[in-house]
Amino acid sequence: MTEERKVDVMERIAQASRGLAEEAAVEHWVTIYVMGKAYRVPADLTIMQAMEYAGFRFVRSCGCRAGFCGACATVFRRSGDYKLYAALACQTRVEDGMYLVQIPFVPAEKALYDVAEEPYDPSVVLKHYPEVLRCVACNTCTKACPQDLQVMDLIQGVIRGDLKAVAEGSFECVQCGLCAMRCPAEIVHYHVTQLARRLYGKYAIPPEPNLEQRVKEIEEGNFEEEFERVMSLGPEELKEMYVEQQRTREVY
Ligand code: SF4
Ligand code: SF4
Ligand code: FES
Repeated sequence: MTEERKVDVMERIAQASRGLAEEAAVEHWVTIYVMGKAYRVPADLTIMQAMEYAGFRFVRSCGCRAGFCGACATVFRRSGDYKLYAALACQTRVEDGMYLVQIPFVPAEKALYDVAEEPYDPSVVLKHYPEVLRCVACNTCTKACPQDLQVMDLIQGVIRGDLKAVAEGSFECVQCGLCAMRCPAEIVHYHVTQLARRLYGKYAIPPEPNLEQRVKEIEEGNFEEEFERVMSLGPEELKEMYVEQQRTREVY
């Protein structure tokens, strides 16, 4: 993207966000369809902002608003395009003619296990999720992933028994469920890769001394007094404390 184009996009985003309060100032508008109904919204808003502009109030399908929690899974089609797209609503800008639907929750069976009771062996993942072997290598899960993870390769990694590759390759999974929604083999990729990460994290990575030290301090009760204090605060005091922490926290 050229520098000039970048500035133009930034201006339009700023303008669209201003538009939430000052409609008259908005020059660029698009029409989106939510659950089949048309809404005119300022261009350049995210899908989430645009839906709120249109009057929707998120009770589900919204969490961090920053691309981390995976709560805002969205499926859409573009006008004149046969493809079905998937995205995170807080990270994707609206486009004219988008047909949108929010996915509030993906029903998924999660195996019950205690990682401490399992051996460090790739067969553990297959024992709890044998359906992984039904993968037909269609790559639909990869195409659906808003994090651009190589989801099919991760599933193939589980079959090969390469827990390291699965754990490292799935680190940025936000558990949105869009891969599982599309999989013809009905695999729940994010639970499968989570078990691989847990096994790899517990058995293959050396313990982190700082973490061990902090756990010891907690077990010795070093934070009990502070914990009691926080529990006794009211909502306003908690809000102030949060704001202050955000203001003073170190940025790495
Ligand atoms: S969508 Fe399902 S069947 Fe297709 S590659 Fe992914 S895991 Fe395999
Ligand atoms: S792997 Fe699946 S659950 Fe994880 S971010 Fe990608 S689509 Fe979402
Ligand atoms: S609201 Fe958390 S990822 Fe979109």
